[in-house]
Amino acid sequence: MKITVFNGSPRGERGNTYIMAEAFLQGAKKTGAEVEHILLVKKNINHCMGCFSCWSKTPGKCVINDDMAVLLDKYINSDIVIYASPLYTDFVTGLMKDFLDRVLPIVCPEFEKEGSGESRHKRRYAKYPDLIMMSNCGFPEGRQFETLRLFCKRKMRNDKANVIAEIYRSQGELLKSEDPNMKPLVESYKGLLRKAAGEIVMGRKILPDTLAELEKPLIPEEEYFRAVNEGWQQMKSHD
Ligand SMILES: Cc1cc2nc3c(=O)[nH]c(=O)nc-3n(C[C@H](O)[C@H](O)[C@H](O)COP(=O)(O)O)c2cc1C
Repeated sequence: MKITVFNGSPRGERGNTYIMAEAFLQGAKKTGAEVEHILLVKKNINHCMGCFSCWSKTPGKCVINDDMAVLLDKYINSDIVIYASPLYTDFVTGLMKDFLDRVLPIVCPEFEKEGSGESRHKRRYAKYPDLIMMSNCGFPEGRQFETLRLFCKRKMRNDKANVIAEIYRSQGELLKSEDPNMKPLVESYKGLLRKAAGEIVMGRKILPDTLAELEKPLIPEEEYFRAVNEGWQQMKSHD
């Protein structure tokens, strides 16, 4: 099984998204998967120009000469693709959005009706990877990911893929905290991510108990709220 993470954090290896994805991939590798962690910030990815050449003149291929050709090849040849992005203005980062737009060549231009009567594009390939959405955010509450949850339901239909798991970490800035009280909590969270990855490799789903544990706040929401505000106050008074 090949699992590929496309990481859309502009912070790359310094990011909280990186910490999450690495822990997950460790668990996946240990359970026998082949894994790859791709940092989009290190790639040359231009905006989609909306020319539709990938649907007409060069079917399945984008005419822009950048890193996307190689990335699309990796995408379509993966069994599971993980979209990993911090929450930016309630959605994914611009980097990730450019990547999502440039995945357009994997479907055909023609419309078809799905079971619900809604339109979508016809498939280009016989097989598409299953998808996982992974995100972290700065606010304390899990409901901050509402837009991403809806996005998974709505938009992923056109990728011809199942979203097999959504992994959301509110209070994300705690993941790289230097506070010694936080370290065991973060280590235990990383352990849960490794466990979830093992479950994905074995059965393509995260078991309900594991998911419930993953979604628990790292620290009480009010405590995090206060700590963040105090942290900013201290930072400003040092300026
Ligand atoms: C431009 C920008 C927009 C953000 N928007 C949100 C947001 O809508 N909700 C939220 O909870 N956090 C938001 N954040 C905070 C990030 O999600 C948070 O810092 C996260 O831990 C960054 O992950 P990373 O280290 O992997 O890049 C935003 C941060 C930036 C820089």
